[in-house]
Amino acid sequence: FPVLPLPPGLHENIPEVNAKMVFRRDPAAYAAIKPVAALTVPDQIATFSYDENHVLRHDDSSLRYFVDPPVGANLDAGYENWPRRDDEHYRLDALLETYARAVDSGKVKEKPNVVTWRGMMTKIMTAQYEDRDEWEMNAMILDGTLYLEDNKGVTYLNPHTLKSREPLELTPKRTVTEPQRKLMYTGYAFESYCTVDHPSQEPIVGSHEPDVNTNMQWCSVVQTNLGPWNLVLGGEVDCVRGRYTGKNDGNYVELKTSAVVRSDRDGKNFERSALKYWAQSYLLGIPEVVVGFRSPQEPYHLEATQTFETFQLPRLGLKAGWSASACLNWTNAVIEYIHQRCKAESPRDPLDGKLFRVMYRPRFGLQVWVLGLPSIPSIQDVDP
Ligand code: A3P
Ligand code: MG
Ligand code: MG
Repeated sequence: FPVLPLPPGLHENIPEVNAKMVFRRDPAAYAAIKPVAALTVPDQIATFSYDENHVLRHDDSSLRYFVDPPVGANLDAGYENWPRRDDEHYRLDALLETYARAVDSGKVKEKPNVVTWRGMMTKIMTAQYEDRDEWEMNAMILDGTLYLEDNKGVTYLNPHTLKSREPLELTPKRTVTEPQRKLMYTGYAFESYCTVDHPSQEPIVGSHEPDVNTNMQWCSVVQTNLGPWNLVLGGEVDCVRGRYTGKNDGNYVELKTSAVVRSDRDGKNFERSALKYWAQSYLLGIPEVVVGFRSPQEPYHLEATQTFETFQLPRLGLKAGWSASACLNWTNAVIEYIHQRCKAESPRDPLDGKLFRVMYRPRFGLQVWVLGLPSIPSIQDVDP
C-alpha cells in the first residue's frame, strides 16, 4: 500500500470552475431525510500500539485499563515538566501498514470504499455544526478505495473569495496559546489518573503526579458500514474496562474532560461538546464515555466524573441543536461527493494515483479539486 505522496513541486492551480463547485451543508435538510442505514457495530480487524517514542508496534503493549480516578485530583500537576514537541503525526502510514496485515491475515471480508483515521471521519461527521475550525484533507483513489489524510499545510488561495488567480493569502497557522495548552494537559492528566497498565492494578489513591506521554497510544482498526459505503477506520481507544480478550467486548472507554457544569450556559456548552464525544466514539464502536469535570479555573481539580453511554449522547444533541441523523446523512453524501468529484476530474483512465484536496470552510461548504502535479506517479512506480 502506498503512502499518500505529497511530492515536492506540487502546485495548487485551482481552476475557476472548480472554485464555484461547493458542496453546501444543510443540517435541517439532512436531519429531515430518512436516516441512511446506520453504521453497523464496527468490526475490529486489527489493533496496534505506539510505544513511548511513538514507534509503531503490532501488539497491545500500550493498552490501558480503566480505574476510577481520585476525585479532587490535581489535573495541573506535572504540567511544567510536560515536554514541548510538535505532534505532527497525521500521515496514514501506520494505518495502511496495519490494514495490509489485516488483509493478509484474512480479517478484511469486504473491499472498503474509504480508508482513513477516525479523526478525519469525525471532522466530516461534525462539520455541519462547526462554526470556527476549517480543515483540509488530501484524497486519493486507488483501485476504487478513497484514502483520506489530514492536510496541515497552508492553502494558496483566498478563502474569502475562493479565487485562486488574485493575490494569494495564506491561511494563518493556528498556534496553541499557553492557557489552551494547559487545558490540553488536563485532558491527558485525566487519562493518566483513569488508567493503569495492568487489569489487576488498584485505583490510584493519594497524591501522585500524572504520567503524561502523548506518544503512547493503543489503536483499534475497524471495518464498518455507512449506507452503501464500507469504511476502514483507525483510531485511539483510551482504555478498556475490565479484561481485554482480543476483541471489542463492549468494554472500550473514551475519556474526556469538560469544565464543570454550573449554569445553563455551561450546560449548553457541554451538550454541544457531546457531539464530538458521540461522533468520535460511535465511529470506533466505543460504547462508554467517561467525562471528568474540572474546576472552572486554575488550579484545575477533578470535581466529579460521569459516565455516558455513547448511544444516549444524541439525546443531548436534541437539546443543543445537533442531530446524529443529520451527521450520518451528511457524511454519506460527502463520501459520495468526494468520489464523484475525483471521478469527474479524471476522465481518462487510470484515475488511480491522482491527488485531490478536500477543503471545508464553516458556513461556506466543502470543495474538492485536483492538485496539479508536475508528473503524476504511475501506479507501477509504487511498491505493492
Ligand atoms: P479532552 O478530550 O479531555 O479534552 P481524546 O479525547 O481524543 O482521547 O484526546 C485526549 C486529549 O488530547 C484531549 O483531552 C485534549 O486535551 C487533547 N486533544 C485532542 N484533540 C484535540 C484537539 N483537536 N485540539 C486540542 N486538544 C486536543
Ligand atoms: Mg484518546
Ligand atoms: Mg479521550
